[in-house]
Amino acid sequence: AEISNGSKIFNANCSSCHIGGGNILISEKTLKKEALSKYLEDYDADSIQAIIYQVQNGKNAMPAFKNKLSEQEIIEVAAYIFQKAELGWQ
Ligand code: HEM
Repeated sequence: AEISNGSKIFNANCSSCHIGGGNILISEKTLKKEALSKYLEDYDADSIQAIIYQVQNGKNAMPAFKNKLSEQEIIEVAAYIFQKAELGWQ
C-alpha cells in the first residue's frame, strides 16, 4: 500500500514524542480522539485547523514547526493525525 506523505512527515518530525499516537512527555496529552477533544483548544469546532495551529506554534514543551515544515506539510500531517485519531490509531 502507498505510504502517505502525512505519515512520512509524522515519522520524521513527530514520532520521537508521539510514537503510536502517544505522548512521551505528558502522557495524558496523546493524539487520540478523546485527548484531542479534551486538551486541544477548538478541536471539536474545527479539528484539522486546531491541529495545524498547535503544529505551527507549538505549546509548552512541544516545539513550533512553522519554520521547519512548509504550510503544505503541516496541512498534510494534520490531516494524517485527524484520520488516525478517527481510526483509533489502529
Ligand atoms: C501536544 C502534534 C511534535 C511534544 C500535541 C498535540 C498535537 C501534537 C495535535 C495536542 C495533543 C493533546 O493536547 O492531547 C504534533 C505534531 C508534531 C509534534 C503533528 C510534529 C510535526 C512534537 C515533538 C514533541 C512534542 C517533536 C517533543 C519534543 C508535545 C507535548 C505536547 C504535545 C509536550 C503537550 C503540550 C501541552 O499541552 O503542554 N502535539 N506534535 N510534539 N506535543 Fe506534539
